[in-house]
Parts: sequence; C-alpha cells; structure tokens
Amino acid sequence: MTLPSKRILLIISGGIAAYKSLDLIRRLRERGASVRVILTKAAQQFVTPLAAGAIAGERAFTDLFDAVTEFDIGHIRLARDCDLVVVAPATADLMAKMAGGHADDLASTVLLATDRPILIAPAMNPVMWSHRATARNLAQLQADGVKTVGPNAGEMAEAGEAGTGRMAEPLEIVAAIERLLAATGTPRGILSGQSILVTSGPTHEAIDPVRYLANRSSGKQGHAIARAAAEAGAAVTLVSGPVKLPDPPGMKVIHVESARAMLAAVEAGLPADAAVFAAAVADWRVAEAGTQKTKKTTAGPPTLSLVENPDILATVAKRKTDRPRLVVGFAAETERVVEYARAKLARKGCDWIVANDVSKESGVMGGDRNTVHLVTARGVEAWPSQSKEEVARALVARIAEALKVPATPVK
Ligand code: CTP
Repeated sequence: MTLPSKRILLIISGGIAAYKSLDLIRRLRERGASVRVILTKAAQQFVTPLAAGAIAGERAFTDLFDAVTEFDIGHIRLARDCDLVVVAPATADLMAKMAGGHADDLASTVLLATDRPILIAPAMNPVMWSHRATARNLAQLQADGVKTVGPNAGEMAEAGEAGTGRMAEPLEIVAAIERLLAATGTPRGILSGQSILVTSGPTHEAIDPVRYLANRSSGKQGHAIARAAAEAGAAVTLVSGPVKLPDPPGMKVIHVESARAMLAAVEAGLPADAAVFAAAVADWRVAEAGTQKTKKTTAGPPTLSLVENPDILATVAKRKTDRPRLVVGFAAETERVVEYARAKLARKGCDWIVANDVSKESGVMGGDRNTVHLVTARGVEAWPSQSKEEVARALVARIAEALKVPATPVK
C-alpha cells in the first residue's frame, strides 16, 4: 500500500473526464487511502453522487447549504479533515473561481477554506486551455502554491478536436498524489516493525439503558496519532470510545463504550512496543447502572452514586509483564498545565505526558488545533500551536526515535 491511512478530499467538477474520476477513487482506495468526494452541480451531469459515494464507501457531498451535512460534518471540517485536496477534473470555470477566491458553492468554499495542499488535474477543450484567461488563472494558482498534473495532449471527446486539454490518466494522478504526500507526510517506515496501541475518544458510562455520563472529547487527537503511526509503518491497534469519526484505514480498530471495556480491549491488545493513551476516560461510573429506564417519581430526582473507574494508563504503566517500552499519557488540564502534568507523570508511572490546555478559551476540545507540552523525566518541551495532525506527526517522530534505543525502558 503506497497511501496507507491517507485522506484524500476529491472534488469532481463538471467535465466529460469526470467518469475517469470514479476509477481514480478506486485506485486511491486500493492503495490504502480513504476518499471523500464533493461533486459540483455541473459534475452531477456527468456522474452521480450515488456512483461516487458507492465507490468511495461513504456518501458524496454536493451542497453548501445542506442542513444534514452542515450539522454532521460542515464545510470547514470537509476542508480540514484530509491530507490533500485533489480537483479532478478541474474545469476552466472552477480554476477561474479558485484563482479569484470565489466561494459560492460547496467545492469553491472548501477550496477557499482549506489549509491543506491542493492538486488540480485540469481538463478542458484545447482552445479553452490555451486561452489567455485560463493561462492567467493557472499562473495565479501556481503562484498560490496549487500543484498541477496534466493536462495531456490527444484526442478530445468531441469529434475532430485534438490538442492539449485531456485530463491526466487516473494512474498519473495517483503518482502525483504519492509524490506530493511523500513530501509532506510522516517519513515512511520510521516505525516499521513496531506495534503501537492507541486509545482515543471519550467513554460512555451507563446510568440506565438510555442515559450515560460522557465528556466532550472528539477523538480527533487520538485518531490522528493512530493514523500517523500507521503512516509511519507501525502495526496499530486503535481502541476507540464512541466518536463521530470514521475508522482510520490500515489498522485494527476496536470500538468500546465504557472505561472497563476500554481497559479489557487494551489488555487484550498487549504486548505492544509503545502505547499512547489519548482517550478521555471517564473517571467515574454509576455504582449500579439501572437495567430499566429510571422513571420520574413524586419522590424527586434520583441520587447517582459514583464509583471510580480503573485507570487504564496507570494499570498498563505499572504492569510487571508486557509493559510497553514506552507508555505515553495525556493530561487534559484547565489550569497549571505543566505542574499538574509533572505530578501525573509520577503518579501514573508513565514515561511521557503530553499535556494540553483544555480550558474553554483554548478551543482544544472538539477543535482542530492543539498546543501541548511534552513532559518527560528529562524536562518539559513547549511545542508550538499546531494542527492535531501536526502534533500527531511530531509525537510519532519522537516515539520512533525513542523506540530505536532497544531493551531498557525509554525515559
Ligand atoms: N486515563 C486512563 N484511565 C482513566 C483516566 C485517565 O487511562 N480512568 C488516562 C488518559 O487517557 C490520559 C491520562 O490518563 O492519558 C490523564 O487523564 P486525565 O483525565 O487528564 O487525568 P486524571 O487521572 O483523570 O486526573 P485529574 O482528573 O485529576 O486531572
């Protein structure tokens, strides 16, 4: 697999070459990538959202003002939850909109809102391609950092038309994607031969069959770490609480609800070379969850009696057998971040703590960025504010470095 765990956002605009984009989706998925698809209105004249969605394995997106999409994903998340945006085919019209910064439909809005690299595969009639307006737009896009693949020369769909304007073939586009991602991603292979266990997301602790205690963790940071570790060549087991994120490809994903189920899944996932505990495990559960729905009575509201959940991180860090060589915990704090993180490192017996500020003002919980401190026995490093993907890649690089030193536990 040349694109393990890579997330491609594919924007299909309206040209006859759109049919080749269905093959492109298939080729990308064969290589381990996940593909999310946006179709412009014109694209839907050539291929249907149903066909694109069926091949991609998830529904395709079409409308900026689709209430359901905005609620569950939203155009900003569409723009950010990917490693690369690919526009294939890129019509003259969409290129003009991109060059001018327009945002009047889902595709153009996402292209304006993304901070990820963009690759376009132009496709149009040769006269349109050589038009000065297109040349101007192309020059502008290239100056803005947009990468291109093709177009190629050859016969056009219209009889008797030939020249430069054919969309690059799907495999050429795949090769361009591989080149681009190799330049921006986690160095491939730095964790090959290593097994990494990651916990992610919140846990749900049942009160009765319909109610539960939970927290605001989205699982984004933990999932990003699992993905970065897989990209780096590790055999990854991701133990995930209930999250709205898709399973990252190229790894074993175990879904759990409660802290106790998470502990059992983690223990079953050992031995591992390193374990990263990014889950926001509920500290407490209800002592005795009701087997039937608790009803309102005249006696007033029920009293919930709580008991402490097992501490998964501490349990694994203190194991006598099968302790991973590197045990990394997270500390979610709302104040005195470093001080509390140091105390947590000692108390839980882990090797490193990634401490982050989750106060409401930080926007970390559910957000896309993270500002962390890496606390080890050697000291504290303040990392710059980065996307959760960047934090994940940086952490994976540090884990790879630490695991290179064999036998003795890494501090
Ligand atoms: N953790 C865990 N099991 C628990 C609680 C926490 O594995 N039952 C792990 C988390 O995955 C994280 C680390 O412990 O890596 C710190 O979690 P946090 O909730 O910040 O710390 P607590 O131990 O709960 O301490 P406090 O609530 O006092 O901050």
